[in-house]
Amino acid sequence: MLILAPMQGLTELLFRRVFHRCYPGAFDYAVSPFLSITHGNLRDAGKKVEDVLPEFNSDSIPVVPQLLGHEADGFVDLANRLNDLGYSELNWNMGCPMRRVAAKHRGSGILPYPDEVRGILDSVVPRLKATLSVKVRLGYLSPDEIDAIIPILNDYPLSSVTVHPRTGKQMYSGQVNLDKFAEILPEIKHKVIYNGDVCSVYDYRKIRLKFPQVKDVMIGRGALYNPLLPTMIRAEMPEDFASEGPHKISDSLSSQTFINALINDILELDISNQAKIRKIKEYWCLLSKSIPGTEENKRKVLHASDLDAILRLISEMTK
Ligand SMILES: Cc1cc2nc3c(=O)[nH]c(=O)nc-3n(C[C@H](O)[C@H](O)[C@H](O)COP(=O)(O)O)c2cc1C
Repeated sequence: MLILAPMQGLTELLFRRVFHRCYPGAFDYAVSPFLSITHGNLRDAGKKVEDVLPEFNSDSIPVVPQLLGHEADGFVDLANRLNDLGYSELNWNMGCPMRRVAAKHRGSGILPYPDEVRGILDSVVPRLKATLSVKVRLGYLSPDEIDAIIPILNDYPLSSVTVHPRTGKQMYSGQVNLDKFAEILPEIKHKVIYNGDVCSVYDYRKIRLKFPQVKDVMIGRGALYNPLLPTMIRAEMPEDFASEGPHKISDSLSSQTFINALINDILELDISNQAKIRKIKEYWCLLSKSIPGTEENKRKVLHASDLDAILRLISEMTK
């Protein structure tokens, strides 16, 4: 399976809907950007929870909501409300590297504390109506922290363990630690999903060849550097993906078309022009890598401050 990674501010509902419209079936499912368990009250939680409300997700990539936090009662409360909405799987974020999150033993900040991980799973799992999957890093400070976490994860009925083989301290840069991933893979008794730096068909093939037992790959930034990537992977690997409809590159919409569709949907949002500009620029930083044009011209979009000027520059490059 190919899974779209959760990326706060990027792979949110708007992106997933446009992606689904342009490349239906390219991703099997997405994990949502995290919902903090402080958003437990669905009715009052506002925008954050809207991201996974089924009424907005029916024409989108199927989504597994992700929860961030370590307070068991709040976790169960939000998880069971999401289950009532129809979600049969929920994902626990044990990977977020942001300092203000990790400092409170949330995200990857919980990985140095195996007793806390066990305490939460002990309290949460028996009370959940949905199944739980987790997304982890190798550790917060050290890649060996995972060694004490795996036997704990093995004690609970998790539907999958997604591993991003970096530490929290590494954030999103530096090498992925494939040696450590190889070391821990046989120790994990659950289905393992690989995640990290798959930005081309070559990267994908490298992971599948090196770890043939790993059948599922989660892709984040690669899908923004090149929105055609999951389609290209499916076209290259027909024996793995026999089921879903045509996945030929020639049948697929171009990145230019995708970028224009995404921008059109941003322009329709009920937000200020400044907020639209911020959003367009955030996506442009990543998506502009997928189209021809000089870096200098692409940078002009980031330097412009007027919405009409930005749209004019982009439309010239995405004709
Ligand atoms: C801007 C940004 C936001 C992210 N937000 C989340 C998140 O909400 N939950 C999560 O589990 N991971 C989050 N991640 C991590 C990604 O899901 C993924 O693990 C990471 O980008 C490595 O995969 P990639 O190399 O395919 O992008 C985020 C990453 C970035 C760059």
